[in-house]
Amino acid sequence: NRSYSISSAFDFTSTIFPLSSTTGNGYAPIGASSEQTGMGGGSLEKHKTLTYLNGLSLVVGLIIGSGIFSSPSQVNINAGSPGASLIVWIIAGFLAWTGGSSFAELGGAIPLNGGAQVYLSKIFGELFGFLYTWCAVTVLKPGSTAIITIIMGEYLVRAAIGAEAENVNPWINKSMAVLGLIIATAISCTSTRLGTRVGDMFMFLKFIALLAITITGIIVAATGFSHDGQPNQDWKHGNWFEGTKTSASSWAVALYAGLWAFDGWDNTSYVVGEFVNPNRDLPKVIHTAMPLVISAYVLANLAYILVLPMSVINASNTVAVMFGSKVFGPIGSLLLALVVSASCFGALNATTFTSGRLVYAAGKEGYLPATFGKIGVGREDAATTLHTRNWAAKRLAHMLGDHETGLFYTPVNAMLLNFVITLCYVIVGEFATLVTFYGVASYTFYFLTVLGLIILRVREPNLERPYKTWIITPIIFCCVSLFLVSRAVFAEPLQTLLVVTFIAAGVPIYYWRVKGRDKNPSQRTRSGSVGDRWRFWKRWQR
Ligand code: ARG
Repeated sequence: NRSYSISSAFDFTSTIFPLSSTTGNGYAPIGASSEQTGMGGGSLEKHKTLTYLNGLSLVVGLIIGSGIFSSPSQVNINAGSPGASLIVWIIAGFLAWTGGSSFAELGGAIPLNGGAQVYLSKIFGELFGFLYTWCAVTVLKPGSTAIITIIMGEYLVRAAIGAEAENVNPWINKSMAVLGLIIATAISCTSTRLGTRVGDMFMFLKFIALLAITITGIIVAATGFSHDGQPNQDWKHGNWFEGTKTSASSWAVALYAGLWAFDGWDNTSYVVGEFVNPNRDLPKVIHTAMPLVISAYVLANLAYILVLPMSVINASNTVAVMFGSKVFGPIGSLLLALVVSASCFGALNATTFTSGRLVYAAGKEGYLPATFGKIGVGREDAATTLHTRNWAAKRLAHMLGDHETGLFYTPVNAMLLNFVITLCYVIVGEFATLVTFYGVASYTFYFLTVLGLIILRVREPNLERPYKTWIITPIIFCCVSLFLVSRAVFAEPLQTLLVVTFIAAGVPIYYWRVKGRDKNPSQRTRSGSVGDRWRFWKRWQR
């Protein structure tokens, strides 16, 4: 009878290391066993399950979502010409790559779950980590998830009833979205391995889909075939750069649209503590994921340009479906609509997996009520109970490879909170605002975090960094993201004000939750600040 009670580990560590947090949010140095660190009990990081392949599918699975199938029009319109838009796609991809490499360095140096939350806390103080968490948990994560989910719903309906879908009651789309959200949450709650397996499968599907689009595009261009008998000739004539926009602000808009399609490169950072071999895998994941995705995106865009006239691409936010219908007629558009909804579901699965863990890390830190930092259903040992008593659950756990922990050894409460917040966004669904808000706020935090990497290099040159990125990468990332954010300040002053106000609203909450926590010694043993965990970590190293 295994028990995941954390109380014994608790007392042991707090006597030996009075500074340390004892709940075990993955602060252990790589290679330290849970006994050494006092990280026993219900902790995700205790059972390190994530492999290189899982990491790859977390990153690729989230990056390839809706964007490559629907944002080409925004990129095109704002870049002004097919050649320029291909350049924007490449720049956006490389920017995502520099961001991803920088996060890989931080993940190796600070091997904790929680992503930017822990990096910002470590580098700029806990207030910053808290403000990030505040924004990420309430808006960034659930808001972006809601966008992907709704797009999935729209494409599902389109697959079911064809072009009629344009006029359908939005609530039909939204109910499909909610259904998808429920399924993804159920998968991530049931088992870590189930979540990663579903993710792996969808990653392969997406690559196959993008490859198929590319090959189709090339064949169509070579043979001049077209379902409607009017093959596109645009690409043969004229200059690919004719019409290129020259204003910096339209390039910035194009870049934002491309960056949405590449967003998700930070996805492994939330689960660093669960990797079997983070030092090797974090950089390896990003250095395979990014070149693969960049090539796949550029090739897919090339295929769109070969098959569809520019006027059609620019006028549609369902480019992929147009592509399918141009080549194969109604069957093609049905097929492509299914592909896009499957792709969105894969992204939904990947983001649910990590969003739940971000909420969990926040619960562990005491930013949220402690119940969100627990594993399993309600009580912490529910996973074991179900595992040992219920025959079917036992079989399933074995099948999935979860025999050590049983089912529901996941941050169920945190997942449910994330579900409820996302649901609100799906229902309210004010996307125009949400997309801009997402872009500005997320790039503000990305910028700060990567700037932090540079600061940390100067401030703590001797800190152990299992992976060190080429110093030019964070510098490029900082410059471009600063350009993007500052441009937003001028172009969208109201939105920026909204973002600033929202971030600032987190400050009093910080004083209430975190300062309150630190004043209260019993609470403090339960949560412990990142600073404490960090000091402990350094101390352990010595
Ligand atoms: N790249 C994804 C897409 O094309 C969007 C990712 C949104 N980001 C996130 N962290 N959920 O749909």
